[in-house]
Amino acid sequence: MSKRTVYFNGQFVPESEARVSIFDSALMYGDMAFEMTRTYNRRPFKLRAHLERLFRSLRLLEIDCGLTLDEMERVTLDTLERNLPTESADMDWQIMHDVSRGPLGIYRTAFPEGVQPTVSINCWPLITHMGGFAANYQSGIHVVIPAQQAVPAHLIDPKAKNRSRLHYQMANLQAARMGEKRWPLLLDPDGFFAEGTGWNIFLVKNGELLTPEPRNILLGVSRATVIELACQLGIPVRETNLSRYEGLDADEMFVTATTFALVHATTFEGQQVGDGRPGPVFNQLLKAWKEHVGIDFVAQADNYAMRLPAWESQTT
Ligand SMILES: Cc1ncc(COP(=O)(O)O)c(C=O)c1O
Repeated sequence: MSKRTVYFNGQFVPESEARVSIFDSALMYGDMAFEMTRTYNRRPFKLRAHLERLFRSLRLLEIDCGLTLDEMERVTLDTLERNLPTESADMDWQIMHDVSRGPLGIYRTAFPEGVQPTVSINCWPLITHMGGFAANYQSGIHVVIPAQQAVPAHLIDPKAKNRSRLHYQMANLQAARMGEKRWPLLLDPDGFFAEGTGWNIFLVKNGELLTPEPRNILLGVSRATVIELACQLGIPVRETNLSRYEGLDADEMFVTATTFALVHATTFEGQQVGDGRPGPVFNQLLKAWKEHVGIDFVAQADNYAMRLPAWESQTT
């Protein structure tokens, strides 16, 4: 039985008691915004940037979560604080914010206390996510282009981190049919790279770092971190339109997201990227990221991978 605590609509409740109604707009429409932050050394990484993005998403969705940014930050830190003692001191965490419009108005009679947005914050030990991911840091990943396209900004702006994610799931299913461990990179309607189903993409060509223009993509906090680190390291960065052609011609390719930070691609569309190993620009950025957060998160993931079976059998 989990000892974890969840922030749920203004209260702290045991994780097992946090329940969303079947009448919630999130279930009806995927009508909600969310965020995923992680900790390094048990301190949230760029929490403020994640929360600012959450509030921008909510503005687009026209949902008032009833908390200010400062209040959201305070309850997030409080939720984390309550959960830290449930694991050993070397455990890092993912912190998930989920905000939906709440139960649909036509069902309001089922809610005598009134209908409000559903706001939850949960913390989950990173051992499951990162223990399962660890091998990818060594093997690299295989990026493929699925038939499914990205939803462009003029339809639903992907800058708002929302859970209308059926197109990502379709892309995942298509990539899985293309082979094991295939990571789908969605194209926008003009045939340019958009993003993966939970990550942003970077190429390196002749020492220059290239990434899609910030148009039809989620503006990843990790993407911004890579750009910042590259600037500090004197690596030139350019946001530009990229297509399959540039992908096949790249010296290096890697992807970024909050949980794993960055991981290199060994193949793109079935062809080897560079010499199939992490390239020099990627290696510089990985080293800089580890220094920036003060922990070797690759070694940590390996350690989690070893401990994962015991952790899972203890906690089930
Ligand atoms: C569609 C999509 N793109 C990119 C990212 C990476 O964003 P971040 O670096 O903020 O985790 C995510 C993260 O979940 C995502 O869902």
